Amino acid sequence: ALPDPHVIVLFGATGDLARRKLLPGLLRLYRAGLMPPDFRIVGTSLDPFDDASFRALAREAVEQFPRSGSGVDDASSWAEFSRRLSFVPGTAGPGALADRVHAARSELGGGRLLHYLSVPPSAARAVVRELGDTGLSEGARIVMEKPFGTDLASAQELNGALHGVFAEQQIFRIDHFLGKEAAQNILALRFANGLFEPIWNRQHIDHVLIEVPETLSIGMRGSFYEGTGAYRDMVVTHLFQVLAFVAMEPPTALEPRAITEEKNKVFRSLKPLDPACVVRGQYDGYRDEPGVAADSETETYVALRAEIDNWRWSGVPFYLRTGKRMADSGRIISIAYHEPPHGMFPAGSGVGSFGPDHMTFDLDEASRLSLSFYGKRPGPGMRLEKASMQFSLEETGLGHDVLEAYERLIHDAMMGDHTLFTTADGIERLWEVSAPLLADPPPLEPYPPGSWGPPSQDELIAPHRWRLPFER
Ligand code: BG6
Repeated sequence: ALPDPHVIVLFGATGDLARRKLLPGLLRLYRAGLMPPDFRIVGTSLDPFDDASFRALAREAVEQFPRSGSGVDDASSWAEFSRRLSFVPGTAGPGALADRVHAARSELGGGRLLHYLSVPPSAARAVVRELGDTGLSEGARIVMEKPFGTDLASAQELNGALHGVFAEQQIFRIDHFLGKEAAQNILALRFANGLFEPIWNRQHIDHVLIEVPETLSIGMRGSFYEGTGAYRDMVVTHLFQVLAFVAMEPPTALEPRAITEEKNKVFRSLKPLDPACVVRGQYDGYRDEPGVAADSETETYVALRAEIDNWRWSGVPFYLRTGKRMADSGRIISIAYHEPPHGMFPAGSGVGSFGPDHMTFDLDEASRLSLSFYGKRPGPGMRLEKASMQFSLEETGLGHDVLEAYERLIHDAMMGDHTLFTTADGIERLWEVSAPLLADPPPLEPYPPGSWGPPSQDELIAPHRWRLPFER
């Protein structure tokens, strides 16, 4: 089924996310035949654009961040797509936006309204209020970008403001990591097979690693990032959401309420973070980036140990880390199994020398799953080596036409499907868990760009080791 005809209002339409993901993603959905039979996209932001310059910006964006099957070389579909784009500058006042939206709706002969708020937390409440004041909230859906607030109080205020204008059913709090194929593959692997779930617990699992290093710098996002930092930008949102997929109990059905219930139980069981179990880093040169304060205390790297106080996970540490300008990019979840109870292999056989067995999910678009374990090296005697088995969507031939996370989620929002979105309760609980860290952050440690982060991350995880860079 296709979505109903839609007017999509894009707040922050000239920003980094819109250029990098949203505009290329909407074009890709259009070319994949997944957009509504007719639609309009009304961009708005504080920048002084008009229809023509916004179309030019969109064209540049899709050229600079092309999605397969969405390059502008297909001239006729680009023309068809771009004539549906228009722009209303924020300075023109709320009435001007409402007029444009009404005009777009009458062109479509009605249709649904979807507001996409790609704006920083500090601006979100004002936009929500404006939508209420101008009546643009009526019957509309609203997609809220992360980070949702900056702490518990601001998230509660934002939820309060939203609920003053929208019913919960109208609200879609996006976390694009949940739209990644590989994140959903965690659910498929755990709950569609009999093989894995029986060993998915403290009896068999020693620890869990979630690692998302990025080589990217802050680039032109300095002014956004300064008020955010790695913890709010990545951990309280993406990494904890992914952790919930790993840790949750089997939901009664694959439907939004059941999934949300199980995820929220995980969040409730998360112990409030102990600042002594957190490492914060800042890459050398960050303070020289545009928009960054010369004495900035914002972290560009964070590593931490989280614990889930429940029957299944008691005593199993979850180690999380992410950072900018690191040695390599990766997005992995690795499950490390216990060592066997009795060491019968002779010293020098190689057993244990490459760390424990791991099952590793790669959250990249190819959605790889690998299992690394010990096997015998062929030949005389008993020498052990780490071997690895891999599954990837590419290799199975299932990998064509993968929707990028944002594409998948924008489509879900147009269809009214909440399954892969987060909820007010869950988010507020995560801010509660974060409170001790936010109140008393450990000192920043510098790290050189192109490295794996500050050295004390190794003490944090000892006697275990980070999974990246992959050795075996
Ligand atoms: C965004 C963060 O939410 O996720 C960025 O704001 C980060 O800082 C990005 O780079 C990572 O997403 P992806 O899909 O490239 O892994």
